[in-house]
Amino acid sequence: TVIVIDFGGQYNQLVARRVRECSVYCEIYSYKTDIEQIKAMNPKGIILTGGPNSCYEENSPTYTKELFELGIPVLGLCYGAQLMMHILGGKVEKAPVREYGKTDVFVKTDSPLFTDVSEKTVCWMSHFDYISKTAPGFEICAHTADCPVAAAENREKNLYAIQFHPEVLHTQEGTKMLSNFVYNVCGCSGDWKMDSFVEHSIQEIRKKVGNGKVLCALSGGVDSSVAAVLLSKAVGDQLTCVFVDHGLLRKNEGDEVEEVFGPNGNYDLNFIRVNAQERFYGKLAGVTEPEQKRKIIGEEFIRVFEEEAKKIGAVDFLVQGTIYPDVVESGLGGESAVIKSHHNVGGLPDHVDFKDIIEPLRDLFKDEVRKVGLELGIPDYLVFRQPFPGPGLGIRIIGDVTADKVRIVQDADAIYREEVDGAAQEYKNEHGKDAPWMPNQYFAALTNMRSVGVMGDERTYDYAVALRAVTTIDFMTAESAEIPYEVLNKVMNRIINEVRGVNRVMYDLTSKPPGTIEFE
Ligand code: XMP
Repeated sequence: TVIVIDFGGQYNQLVARRVRECSVYCEIYSYKTDIEQIKAMNPKGIILTGGPNSCYEENSPTYTKELFELGIPVLGLCYGAQLMMHILGGKVEKAPVREYGKTDVFVKTDSPLFTDVSEKTVCWMSHFDYISKTAPGFEICAHTADCPVAAAENREKNLYAIQFHPEVLHTQEGTKMLSNFVYNVCGCSGDWKMDSFVEHSIQEIRKKVGNGKVLCALSGGVDSSVAAVLLSKAVGDQLTCVFVDHGLLRKNEGDEVEEVFGPNGNYDLNFIRVNAQERFYGKLAGVTEPEQKRKIIGEEFIRVFEEEAKKIGAVDFLVQGTIYPDVVESGLGGESAVIKSHHNVGGLPDHVDFKDIIEPLRDLFKDEVRKVGLELGIPDYLVFRQPFPGPGLGIRIIGDVTADKVRIVQDADAIYREEVDGAAQEYKNEHGKDAPWMPNQYFAALTNMRSVGVMGDERTYDYAVALRAVTTIDFMTAESAEIPYEVLNKVMNRIINEVRGVNRVMYDLTSKPPGTIEFE
């Protein structure tokens, strides 16, 4: 195990992720964690992260000097590097020139940290303080035009300090540097895989839960599905999963979830499906304002869940499928700053009686969660699901929601996804790679607009369906995807022929910003 000590930087989870990518297990702990606890874990290496403070100021996060005397290799990054120098007798000051962005760094390639790294290499810098004097016993092993100590090492004691950020991809050979640290310096073997994560989590969960009862709100999305399966493998039918079908799911989705998790499914757990469609449609009747719709769906979801929980009685644990990006967005990201509060259905219920929360995926990124899902044998179509918002089709039907509108958008959406998936698969078969136009998210929405058309010599006055497809990396910004015209044309034909109540199909070209991905 490698331990990452978190001093509040923006990239801390990335550090852990890069270490895991080297097939080395890694966990993050706050700088407030007691040294005895760290010692008890007997890690092969320790990494100190960046952070927003100045280490020479009073009350800045710090750590006991003993950490550097354990004989365990330590790598300090940015703030962590400065802190290491500060504690061990070097000097850190406000830099005369602040460095930010991609910077040429000149490294000594005989340093174990820089084995097989180019002598001049582009690195990501972001600092206003700098190391003006290294601590006794340290040698400088990298510099830039403005920064005399871009990296320093004390080989004898296995202490290393790097001013830049090897964990971000802008540092072109950063992964190499981190793998040099974990393999060459710490002597990690690199035999950890996602199956070890699964094994490790299952044991931790068993330890925590004991004979307790566990309750999980299952949405059928990737995160809650993976969390539920992990719990089921750990504690079997001590787990009860409540799946609330709010009638705003994609076509057949409720039945698919039941097939996998229900009594005829593959897992050992108690499965409760609540068919609350009518209840949600009732609450939503006549409501058109998007935020109000979101609120109603979110609140109703919690009420239904609470009612089911009440029937079960007191439980010991509540499972949440929280993953790392949720943690950051809700401002709970360890020591780092609040970015924005997360909007999601099914926040914590107020009236469920439980003692503690279990969040087995809290440290993972989405693609890592998918790997865990595959490792657990969850079907591909669940593991590789597109993101689907908590309020579901409720925010893909502009204006008021009715059962009939839900049917229209479900059917149109199913056709659209079937055709896009088919065309993408065909492209892949033919070219041996993913189609360049392949969107990251694509769905149909129902505009609240009706227009006049003609069908079989008759006048129609029906709804327009909007097709949305975006390419995006982080879902914060997005471009409209260039789905081939012939695919769109086929989708249009099928929707108009097969979905009653639709006489027009539009393609949404708007990027985000100014649009959002969803319509409401
Ligand atoms: P927007 O519409 O904000 O969507 O551009 C960005 C991404 O977030 C998803 N989304 C949600 N996910 N609860 C969720 O769990 C929500 O309330 C919600 N609203 C939007 C959306 O599908 C897209 O992937």
